[in-house]
Amino acid sequence: MNSKEIVKKALENGYVVPAFNIPHLPMVKAVAQAVADENSVAMIQVARLEWVKFEAESIESVANEYFKYAKPGHTLLHLDHVPVIDEDHKRVDYLSDIKRAIAAGFQSVMVDGSRLPFEANVEATYAVAHVAHEAGIPVEAELGAVMGHETSQQSIPYEEIFEKKMGFTAVEEAVRFIRDSRCDWLSVAVGSVHGAIADNLLDKKKPTAKLDVERIEQLEKALGIPLVLHGGSGIDNDYIMKGIKAGIAKINVGTEIRQAYEFALREKNDIEYAREKLYLRCREIIKDFLHTSGDAEILLV
Ligand code: 13P
Repeated sequence: MNSKEIVKKALENGYVVPAFNIPHLPMVKAVAQAVADENSVAMIQVARLEWVKFEAESIESVANEYFKYAKPGHTLLHLDHVPVIDEDHKRVDYLSDIKRAIAAGFQSVMVDGSRLPFEANVEATYAVAHVAHEAGIPVEAELGAVMGHETSQQSIPYEEIFEKKMGFTAVEEAVRFIRDSRCDWLSVAVGSVHGAIADNLLDKKKPTAKLDVERIEQLEKALGIPLVLHGGSGIDNDYIMKGIKAGIAKINVGTEIRQAYEFALREKNDIEYAREKLYLRCREIIKDFLHTSGDAEILLV
């Protein structure tokens, strides 16, 4: 399966490819099974902060676990956020992480230069695109600021962020960005918020987010490449459906499934029990929230 073709097909057909985050290694098995049993196509992905701040261990550990439980025809392996500047404002050797992921068998990668000035983001993305394209895989980049991970901005009320369109991806800038960076998919800031990683917020339900559907339409029209929505947990379902119609072709879901797994593990200290709870939640998300059940034939033909 070729990730680039599948996401392109999702865009053309008004579908979405969910991408599920893995902060704990045993989650891989349950998510892969849920995707296959819904006859869907989805990515299993890990972000750098999930092996640095959670328990995903490393790029290679996630790849090993993935290839143990992968469901050919249903699952893909994606490297989520490798930031150039991380949540703690430290510089990251992002190219080396990207190269390790490619060597480990990841089928698409993301570089996140969104904390950099525009030109530096273009430059970092271009460097990653060069390496990834040589390996024959697509690159996701981010332009604009999807709020949430940065502790300093968590105090701003969500309504204010949305009303003022704080950090939202600007159309003109995005056109220049994809032309100069050669990225294949663009993560856009259009109202969603990343799951919080601060200790006191880890167990909290996310505030219900909205989407600026008009901005998504404008971006899709101007760019013509698949758009990615981060912060997929806790968005009003009506907005999700409209967002997909408007051009969102990949959607990242982290907090919802992390909490399903962690809460179950706390309830009963039993990995199989937690996997079962996660499996059921993941099926619900695919079927009832994203409405992507049974799309395998459409996306793979
Ligand atoms: P949520 O945790 O809000 O689902 O977001 C996940 C995400 O965007 C990972 O990149």
